[in-house]
Amino acid sequence: MESLQTIKQRFGIIGNNNQLNIALEKTIRVAPTDISVLVTGESGVGKEVIPKIIHNLSHRKHAKYIAVNCGAIPEGTIDSELFGHEKGSFTGATQTRSGYFEVADGGTIFLDEVGELPLTTQVRLLRVLENGEFLKVGSSKVQKTDVRIVAATNVNMIEAIQKEKFREDLYYRLSTVEINIPPLRNRGDDIHLLFRKFASDFAQKYKMPTIRLEEKAIEALKGYPWKGNIRQLRNLTEQISVIEQNRSISYNTLMSYLPDYGANLPAIIKDKTKESEFKNEREILYKVLFDMRNDITDLKKPLKF
Ligand SMILES: Nc1ncnc2c1ncn2[C@@H]1O[C@H](COP(=O)(O)OP(=O)(O)OP(=O)(O)O)[C@@H](O)[C@H]1O
Ligand SMILES: [Mg+2]
Repeated sequence: MESLQTIKQRFGIIGNNNQLNIALEKTIRVAPTDISVLVTGESGVGKEVIPKIIHNLSHRKHAKYIAVNCGAIPEGTIDSELFGHEKGSFTGATQTRSGYFEVADGGTIFLDEVGELPLTTQVRLLRVLENGEFLKVGSSKVQKTDVRIVAATNVNMIEAIQKEKFREDLYYRLSTVEINIPPLRNRGDDIHLLFRKFASDFAQKYKMPTIRLEEKAIEALKGYPWKGNIRQLRNLTEQISVIEQNRSISYNTLMSYLPDYGANLPAIIKDKTKESEFKNEREILYKVLFDMRNDITDLKKPLKF
């Protein structure tokens, strides 16, 4: 079995956060099986690499890997994309067409944003997951396929089930093993590590010296909520790398790129007055106090008998 470190190198994964390591170890262990996997986590946390690792560490690695963004395909064509259609089954179906489940026979299909699948498609998917059977759109001939499914979602599936937007039976079938990727805000030192990696990448790309953060800016970077996670951090690093002449980034400069630090300050307004510095410091203090309160609540828990 390949080690965690090798996998990280091979797939360009930066970071050593414990929750991330647990997710990757789970990925390595489940990969050689045919078990369905559901990858969960907020937008931009890095879910897309997981199905690639699974496929490449499985006996299916020489067969096809197809990634489908379920949210991007119109409802009217998704069944045909996934399962194919018969000639004449709908206006414009001039040829019989194979769908992804036929093409990927023996391989892996990654269903990204699986929560977006229409209910009718969910019925077809459940059938193919349960017994490998499917019908082309407009056909009554049952076909067989052997496909491993890895799905991903950034929506709360339990909520989607309660709202009757997602079938409960399909959810349980898809999530035999769930792999949760932690949000960036919980990854501690990895945040600065990722920043440095991106800073060095963009320095090469734009042929400029690498930006680096001053001590206070590093702390601020670690305390930011990162709602857009790694995607947001990378975009921020690119912006600063391109715009800032002084390659040593101060706390104030960084703050001018982090609009909603605590409060909802407008974006990209560079306010370097003393007052705004004070305001930002106060926000950090609030955050520290808030985190401390949470920690104290956690500490109290085991004391309740
Ligand atoms: N640990 C990491 N090290 C290096 N780059 C990473 C890491 N995690 C994510 N990335 C990069 O961050 C970007 C966002 O990741 P990805 O596209 O996988 O997000 P996602 O979880 O699929 O989000 P969404 O739900 O919005 O689709 C990608 O460019 C990815 O390469
Ligand atoms: Mg994605």
